[in-house]
This record gives sequence, structure tokens and C-alpha cells, in this order.
Amino acid sequence: MKTDAPVMLPLLIYKGPYSHQLGDYNQLHWSYMLVSQGQKVMLTILLVAVMFSQGQSWSDYGYHFITAFPENIASYYPLYPSNYLNITALYNDTSVDVYFNQTLIYNNTLQSGRTETVTLPVDVEQYQFGQSYESVMIQSSYYIVVLSVSQRGDSVQTNVVQPLQNLYTFYTIPSLNYNEMMSTFNQMANNISKKYSSFRLIIINSQGLNNQVIIQRQQFQDTVIILKPNGLVQLPINGSEITIVADYKVAVLLTHPCVETESCRCNMVVNQLRPDFKWSNEFIVPSVVNMSKTWLHVTSTMNIQLYSGVKLEPSNFEPYPSNPLSLPSVQSDSQYIYTSEAASLRLVSPGVFIELIPLYMFHACYLVQFKSTQGEVLVIAKTAYTDNVHIDSNLLSSTEWSPITNTQYSSVSVILDGAHIIWHPSTTIGVYMFERMKSGILYGGPAIALKTQPAPVGCLLHSTGFEIVQTPMTWVESHQNCIFTKGQLFSPNTAEAQMQIANFLDNQEIQEDLWIGLRRSLLTLDWYWQKGNVSIYNSSYMQWGTGEPGDHVKGMCASIFPNSIIDFPWKSVRCCTKLKSVCYRTAQYFSLQSEIQTVRQTVNEFELSQTTAYV
Ligand SMILES: *[C@@H]1O[C@H](CO)[C@@H](O)[C@H](O)[C@H]1NC(C)=O
Ligand SMILES: *[C@@H]1O[C@H](CO)[C@@H](O)[C@H](O)[C@H]1NC(C)=O
Ligand SMILES: *[C@@H]1O[C@H](CO)[C@@H](O)[C@H](O)[C@H]1NC(C)=O
Ligand SMILES: *[C@@H]1O[C@H](CO)[C@@H](O)[C@H](O)[C@H]1NC(C)=O
Ligand SMILES: *[C@@H]1O[C@H](CO)[C@@H](O)[C@H](O)[C@H]1NC(C)=O
Ligand SMILES: *[C@@H]1O[C@H](CO)[C@@H](O)[C@H](O)[C@H]1NC(C)=O
Ligand SMILES: *[C@@H]1O[C@H](CO)[C@@H](O)[C@H](O)[C@H]1NC(C)=O
Ligand SMILES: *[C@@H]1O[C@H](CO)[C@@H](O)[C@H](O)[C@H]1NC(C)=O
Ligand SMILES: *[C@@H]1O[C@H](CO)[C@@H](O)[C@H](O)[C@H]1NC(C)=O
Repeated sequence: MKTDAPVMLPLLIYKGPYSHQLGDYNQLHWSYMLVSQGQKVMLTILLVAVMFSQGQSWSDYGYHFITAFPENIASYYPLYPSNYLNITALYNDTSVDVYFNQTLIYNNTLQSGRTETVTLPVDVEQYQFGQSYESVMIQSSYYIVVLSVSQRGDSVQTNVVQPLQNLYTFYTIPSLNYNEMMSTFNQMANNISKKYSSFRLIIINSQGLNNQVIIQRQQFQDTVIILKPNGLVQLPINGSEITIVADYKVAVLLTHPCVETESCRCNMVVNQLRPDFKWSNEFIVPSVVNMSKTWLHVTSTMNIQLYSGVKLEPSNFEPYPSNPLSLPSVQSDSQYIYTSEAASLRLVSPGVFIELIPLYMFHACYLVQFKSTQGEVLVIAKTAYTDNVHIDSNLLSSTEWSPITNTQYSSVSVILDGAHIIWHPSTTIGVYMFERMKSGILYGGPAIALKTQPAPVGCLLHSTGFEIVQTPMTWVESHQNCIFTKGQLFSPNTAEAQMQIANFLDNQEIQEDLWIGLRRSLLTLDWYWQKGNVSIYNSSYMQWGTGEPGDHVKGMCASIFPNSIIDFPWKSVRCCTKLKSVCYRTAQYFSLQSEIQTVRQTVNEFELSQTTAYV
């Protein structure tokens, strides 16, 4: 079916709407101004400061997300676009709200491991340059992960939407040699129309207040934009842009609506930039088979050398390098690359625009999601651990693992459909998910990273144990908070439990009072344990401190407190006092509910046919 594939022809008339868009873009200039040298000095200091926090882990789950949907092909292209979010809750009973253009468009309560699709209105696509409020904001009561999907005809792209904690106020923009890159791609596409379309940045304000954003350029004037609360700006870029500095956290998408591929086709690409302080030195470039044009691009702010066991040629890069690194074997083998300074590496091809997962960001479990039956999961694991990679509850047994030169790692590709959890019980791994458009062009990127800590039987959301809640709250608030975080106020109602908590608090060097799950009945004034939503009266074990508990006027609730012999006895405290608290949670694992649903469906069908038989 060639007829419904995107064709290049409409691009030739792109000039009309584009010049109209330039009009809008000009309006933006009223808020621009020149940035003084002083701000450049500040920038350097900031850069040094953020480098120190490098090495933190980076997971894709959170409570609060903000993103946007870039233009896919062209807004006036005859095929209807489909823009949606796939939202997956990690825990049960998670309420989720989605806002578009500052209006609530979706709310629901999700169950763990079941993906909900939220379709966005057609006008979510950002085809105008300039500012708007048309961001998409997702808020949830507990941890979720979000995949955004944009499809118009054959042009499909996915992006793992990053939670607010992964955003930052400072980003370096990859200074790709856009002209050269486009002409490499154009040669495949018979040199059509590169003038009419350009790479763009979408900068999204994560905060509900005005946010000043400075786009710094090499040799050209900087641009200053005041972003509206939760608003966004879309700008065309030409390779002169080097950094984004904002007052508050922003999300940054680098995108192109229509990268030419072949036979008069094009497709959208999108890459959410990682802030500089998440950069690192060690990477494994995933092998992406059958990509005829693949570029490896380095972004760095310093002089940098690249090695792969040996020094790579060309290897000395000035700051903000624009040239691609040519690695022909990327098309068949995975490659290890070490950079002398922290950097960001990107794989760029007509359909793919991905930032590589540095080794330190490897996780113990990932979620992969595919539209088609031909999804491709690329797994990178230490060679000694390759026999223990799992897909859901099954072992990934493959003879296709191939060792990566100069490393202790191997990689393998597996074809899958639907949604799966890829995990390892004892080490961290790297996982990418790719799919193909109907034209055969690859798209995708890093899989949805869930947890860094390996666990023997699956994807561990949290382990069994104590958690000290650092925010002082009343007893009732603390009780509710523990339940909300899938636990309960700890109730040491046996000598053994009391000893456990005392040891734990001693190890943590706790020097203050903490709420426990003990309080008086309002009616009888009897003490009882509140374990989650269960009340336990008449418990015989007691560990009151000297002179405790006081009478009911002194307090109707109980805290544990440090003493000289560190056995952490209890005392009565007024319930409305604000104290830290100690929650206890049992281990919880993440699994997908789709398998169970399928089984259930089969059972129902079976029952149905039985019933029919009886009738
Ligand atoms: C969610 O609820 C289901 C069904 O009650 C249960 O099997 C599962 O363990 C729960 N998952 C989590 C993460 O709480
Ligand atoms: C977004 O909201 C603004 C008003 O705040 C309105 O002018 C604009 O048309 C809306 N855009 C969309 C796509 O609904
Ligand atoms: C949000 O939820 C409430 C109650 O569950 C419902 O009445 C309302 O229509 C929902 N709003 C949207 C935008 O879905
Ligand atoms: C594309 O243009 C370049 C010069 O701009 C030319 O060298 C090349 O042959 C052209 N390719 C095709 C397929 O026309
Ligand atoms: C790139 O864009 C900037 C800002 O729009 C402009 O000042 C500059 O002249 C452009 N550079 C080139 C090489 O086109
Ligand atoms: C990929 O390349 C291999 C051999 O080079 C070929 O057999 C296969 O058909 C190609 N796959 C696609 C989807 O193009
Ligand atoms: C999004 O979720 C829906 C429903 O689970 C699924 O059918 C679809 O394939 C998912 N899309 C992607 C791109 O994973
Ligand atoms: C107490 O909580 C459990 C698990 O969360 C639930 O199954 C049960 O219905 C709750 N009981 C009451 C009385 O709310
Ligand atoms: C606790 O024990 C007392 C007497 O020892 C009894 O009167 C009371 O009913 C018991 N309470 C509960 C909740 O079992």
C-alpha cells in the first residue's frame, strides 16, 4: 500500500504556511534582549557546579511530567494525526490528571502494570513558531511512567517523557552540522526541499510562574525569552545555538517534522535533551542493523578525545563539535566508547535521534512497549551475566549474544510485540526499544527505565523495610502518609519488632522522636496499634519509657524516642504535634497486568462456550 505513505510533495508548498509562521516568530522578538558578558561568566560557574552532581541515577518514573507534541510531517498534511500518551502506573489506585493548554482533559484512577492510552486533541501539534500554552502536563498521586506517541501516516515517533526531577535549568544543545546532515539524508531522498524545513527546539516551562530562558549562540546574539507559566516556545535552529539557561527547570525537545528518507518520503524525529549534569564518559553504541545512514554525534563543552580501547579517528573534538563521528561498523556491531570528558552521544539517522544510555545509567529493569508485532529490543549486559536476562517471567535464552570489542559486555536483539518487562536479578543492563515504520525506517530509543536496584525475583519497586519520613507531620497525617506510600506506621508490638526498630534507628543515628502506630481510643482511652487500616487492642507487649505513658491529657498518641541505653522506648505525645515518623513497607514488585487479562479472557471465552453448550 504505497498510497497512504507520506510523500514529499506537500513539502514543496510548505513555503506558504512557513512564512506565515515566521510572522508569528517575529512577534516573539519583542521580549528578546542582548545578554551582557556578566551572564556568560555566571554560566561557567554554574557549569562547574553541576558537573559535581554527575553520577546520580536517572529513572523515568515520577509524579509530575510536562511535554509537548512536535509537528509531525506538516500540519496541513492530508492524513489525520494520532497523538497519544501511554501512561503506566507502578502502584495500584494511582490517580492521574492530564492537562493540555492548562485545561484538564483526562482524569482516571489507574492500576499497577496496566497501560492507559490518553488521546490528545488534533491541535496539540506544535506547528507554529513562538510561544503558546499548549504544553501537556501529567500529574499523578503516585509513581507513573509516560510514553508519548505521535503518528501521521507512516511517520511514527515515540518519546519517553521525563518526570520533573530529571529536568534542569541548563542544557547544551547538540551543535549538529545540520546542513551536512540534511544533505547526507537528502542524497538518499533525491535532494528535495531541504530549504523548507528546519530543526527546531521546543522549550517547555515546568513551573507555574514566568521563567526567563536565555538561548546562547556562538558568534551570534543571544536570545532571551520570558516563558509563560507552564508555557512553551518553539524556535527554528541553525546550529549556532549552544546552550539554554533558564531561571527554573525546563524540558527541551529537539525535533524535525520531516526528515527526508527515500522515495519522496519523510518522517518526524524527536529527542528530549538530557541536562548536562547527567552526562558521563562511558557508552555502548547499540547496533542498529540495516540503517544505511547512521551518524554518531558527540556533544561536549570542552576539548575531548574519544577512545574505544584505541583512540578513535577522528578523535580530538573542540568544544561544541558539530561533525559526526563516522563509525561504519555501528550498522552491524555494538561499539564501546570512552570520552576523556563528560559528554552526550547521539545516534542520528533519518528515523532515529537518540541520546545513548551511559553505562552508569544502566538499570536492573525496564518497561518496553510496542505498537507492532515487530518490536526490537536491544539488550546490553555483562557477558558473564547474559544467561540471566529475563523477559517478564521467562529467561531470555538466545545464542545470538555477541561480545562487544574491548569490553566485558555483550549485546543481543530480540523481536517482541506488546508490552514487557526486561530485567536482571543481579546486575544492571542497558535496554533500547526500536520499531519500524511501514517504509522500514527504524524509530525508537532507550527503553523506559524503572529501577536501578537488581532483585532476585523481578522488578522490585521497593524492598521490605523501614523508612524514616523526614517531613514532620501530625500523627494522623503521618499515618495517612505511610498508607499513601504503600506502607503503615511501624507498630513494634512484640519484643522482636522493638529490637529490630531500635537497631535500625541506632544504625541511622536517629536523635529525635518519631511517630509509631500506637494511640489511644477516643472512647475508652485504651491504647491500641493502628496497623494500616487494622486496629489491634489489648496487646500485652509494652515498652514505655520511665514515667510513661502520661495521662490522656499529656497525649493520645505515642512516639518512639532515643535514650541513653538506645533501646528506643515509647512516650505519649499530643497527636497534633509535628514529628517525623517511621513507616514500614513490605516488598512490592512490578508486573504487567496484560498477561493476566489475556488469561482471564481465555477463561471467559471458555466459560462462555461451556454455557453455550449447555443451552
Ligand atoms: C495491585 O493489585 C493487584 C490486584 O489486587 C495485586 O495483584 C498487585 O500485587 C498490586 N500491585 C501493586 C504494585 O501493589
Ligand atoms: C489555548 O488556550 C488559549 C487561551 O488561554 C486559547 O487562545 C488557545 O486557542 C488555546 N489553544 C488550543 C489549541 O486550544
Ligand atoms: C474527572 O473525574 C470526575 C469524577 O470522577 C468526572 O466527573 C469528570 O468528568 C472527570 N473529568 C475529566 C476531564 O475527565
Ligand atoms: C544532490 O545534490 C548534490 C549537490 O548539492 C549532488 O552532488 C548530488 O549528486 C545530488 N544527488 C542526487 C541524487 O541528485
Ligand atoms: C542562525 O540563527 C540566528 C538567530 O536566528 C541568526 O542570527 C544567525 O544569523 C543564523 N546563522 C546562520 C549561519 O544562518
Ligand atoms: C536487513 O539486512 C539483512 C541483510 O543485510 C536482510 O536480510 C534483511 O532483509 C534486512 N531487513 C530489513 C527489514 O530491511
Ligand atoms: C500504547 O498502549 C496501548 C494500550 O495498551 C497499546 O495498544 C499500544 O500499542 C501502545 N503504544 C505503544 C507505542 O507502545
Ligand atoms: C484494609 O486494606 C486492605 C488492603 O489495602 C483492604 O483489602 C481492606 O478492604 C481494607 N479494609 C477496610 C475496612 O477498609
Ligand atoms: C480488651 O480487653 C478488655 C478486658 O481485658 C475487654 O473488656 C475489651 O473488650 C477488649 N477489647 C477488645 C477490642 O478486644
